[in-house]
Amino acid sequence: MKIIFATGNLGKLSEVKRIFENYDVELISLKELVNVPEIYENELTFSGNSFKKSREIFEKFGIPTIADDSGLVVEQLNGKPGVFSARFAGENCTYEDNNKKLLNELSFFPKPHFAKFVCSATYFSADNQFEFIGELSGEIIDEFRGNNGFGYDPIFVPENYSNTLSELGIEVKNQISHRAKAFYGLIDILSKKGIIHYK
Ligand code: IMP
Repeated sequence: MKIIFATGNLGKLSEVKRIFENYDVELISLKELVNVPEIYENELTFSGNSFKKSREIFEKFGIPTIADDSGLVVEQLNGKPGVFSARFAGENCTYEDNNKKLLNELSFFPKPHFAKFVCSATYFSADNQFEFIGELSGEIIDEFRGNNGFGYDPIFVPENYSNTLSELGIEVKNQISHRAKAFYGLIDILSKKGIIHYK
């Protein structure tokens, strides 16, 4: 079956495509659609933004839609950057700008800098709406390590690992990540309801 993944983020897309690869699902990203409405991520929670994306894209195209909203929650910064993770250093900033701003803010605090990634994954169709939340705990380190992944991956070391997510790569990331946990939750309920099937 066809499901839209309401994202234009290529890093997320390649992770989620891998998560769905054993199911009879053709994932369509926003980059493959025309007349995609602008979605303002102005909710104050990951859940609110994620539901907004899946609902508005479903309402526009009439095709079952999944979405995620995710970000980094840093303990010493009282949960920042949170829902502002993508634009922490300002509109149109790069991942590197965000990482540098984060390391600068954390330079005033002692180590370790405990943090977690959070992901709200939602599914929206005419008959069903679901949400699953996944988390990955770890710490922020003050150097960039590794070449894979996206966003804060080069400076995030998951709990019980000594490498960053960038060094660990997509295979390991997709076994432990906040996004994998959230989307495996969705897959589980979609399979049990007979909406998608294992190939
Ligand atoms: P969203 O597109 O509004 O969900 O923003 C997500 C932002 O959170 C990304 O642009 C990254 O900055 C950060 N983020 C979310 N998930 C990850 C991840 O798996 N690795 C690194 N950064 C992430």
